[in-house]
Amino acid sequence: MTGTVHILQLSDTHFLEDGVDPEGGAAYDTSEAFDAVLGHIGDHGHLDMVVVTGDVADHGGAAEYRKAAEAFSQFQVPVNVCPGNHDFDAVFAAGMARPGISTSRVIEVGSWAFLFVDSSAGTMLDQDNGLRIDPPGTDRLRTHGSLGARETAWVHQMCETTSAEHVFVWLHHPPQPPVPMCRDDAYAAEWHAILNAHTKIRGLGGGHTHIPDDYELMGRPVFVSPSFKNNFFLDPQTWLPPGYRTYEFAADGSIASEVQLVDDERWPRHPFGSLLGSLFNGEITFSELDEIIARRSAAND
Ligand SMILES: [Fe+2]
Repeated sequence: MTGTVHILQLSDTHFLEDGVDPEGGAAYDTSEAFDAVLGHIGDHGHLDMVVVTGDVADHGGAAEYRKAAEAFSQFQVPVNVCPGNHDFDAVFAAGMARPGISTSRVIEVGSWAFLFVDSSAGTMLDQDNGLRIDPPGTDRLRTHGSLGARETAWVHQMCETTSAEHVFVWLHHPPQPPVPMCRDDAYAAEWHAILNAHTKIRGLGGGHTHIPDDYELMGRPVFVSPSFKNNFFLDPQTWLPPGYRTYEFAADGSIASEVQLVDDERWPRHPFGSLLGSLFNGEITFSELDEIIARRSAAND
């Protein structure tokens, strides 16, 4: 195959068990969002693949992955998934092991090699037996991106080994996005070194921020997909409906990608409050936000 590669990206689907309240109205019903997105996509038999860039499940629970697998099984083309900070490693791998769905680390199509990078790999703990496991408790849920030595070495090795002309990186955490709360200099430095070493990397596609956007990092485009859980635009500060991204990877190494948002009366575009703005701007942390909300609701009781 030598033509254009067509891919559709979903991210941050944050599936919940049936009957679980999506954060008291601060989040969308992600199953409803999935159905609306699938309807919006319509006929997609021409696609080469659907990619999901992590935060598949909201709490990394087995029942959440069962819902996700049922949803992803509705695509007529292969679905390949990489994990996010909400995806506990072993439960994720088992939960996504279904016909038509895979967690392959590298897929070559035409002149492109697609790498599926685990951008939380550096937060995992090494065991004496060589396995890496998640840190204890729920520490994983709010972590920034971190590749660590092993994942970094794997990316180098794949870029050196592939015979494909062009490489594109799928991952959960986009490095240095234009959202202050999601920026992490150590993680950005890991990517600077990789991009410096491999000119055949043409771009990156991620999620995590819930703020669909695209920007440049060392001359490469970085595409950020909408989420299904809640979505935002920063200027002006607005809630956005759920959505996805479409991509065309040309044989000459160029990439065209568009954000697709599924407008519906269930997800009106309306301004968000200053508290959320302070969180995105890095002026308060998630924990401080939780404390402020708890204090306010106690005062109202
Ligand atoms: Fe995330």
